[in-house]
Amino acid sequence: MDSQKLFIPVILGTNREGRQSEKAARFIMAGIAERGDIETTLFDVKNFNLPPDDYGESIKERFPEYRDAIVRADGLILVSPEYNHGYSGRLKSVLDLLLAEYKHKAAGIVGVSSGMWGGTRGIESIIHVTRELGLVTIGKDLNVPLAKDAFNHDGTARNEKLIESRMRFLAELVWMARTLKYGRENMPVG
Ligand SMILES: Cc1cc2nc3c(=O)[nH]c(=O)nc-3n(C[C@H](O)[C@H](O)[C@H](O)COP(=O)(O)O)c2cc1C
Repeated sequence: MDSQKLFIPVILGTNREGRQSEKAARFIMAGIAERGDIETTLFDVKNFNLPPDDYGESIKERFPEYRDAIVRADGLILVSPEYNHGYSGRLKSVLDLLLAEYKHKAAGIVGVSSGMWGGTRGIESIIHVTRELGLVTIGKDLNVPLAKDAFNHDGTARNEKLIESRMRFLAELVWMARTLKYGRENMPVG
């Protein structure tokens, strides 16, 4: 087995003041640190100085840190709040900065909602987008329902089940990321 660490950045998908998704992002990063086989970094959509009058790949040179990280990445974790049964527009704007750079890399989605379905409907709406980007989205999501009450002050989960789900989610993501890394490095397309 490839013993090299994988590189899997986390994208915190909302710039909303008071966002609960930040806690979910920190929670998944803590799980990554516990495993020890993944290197990560946090991209916060709040920190992308997106221009008011331009959009998409044509402006990617303005975000070299993000571009270089995605080029290097083996996968991505999207922390996606549910907004009106969809996902955050800001997250979409950041994802749309790149295209080929995402190809054949694994994606895992963390859905966050104040409702009891853990962002499921937001997740459903993002999957056709990740597919178009060439990402391979794993079949296991991490759902954070009732987000306001999901975490303690120290960032730990109040519900043991969330910790188990995090473990399974990361295990699946690592499997997919390693499989795709092997494929990218050894299997020509066609
Ligand atoms: C514009 C908007 C729409 C929302 N729509 C939903 C929704 O459809 N379902 C839901 O469970 N929560 C909804 N919420 C609540 C968020 O899911 C909740 O705030 C959650 O913590 C994730 O978003 P946050 O990171 O911005 O806090 C909505 C919040 C906003 C600001």
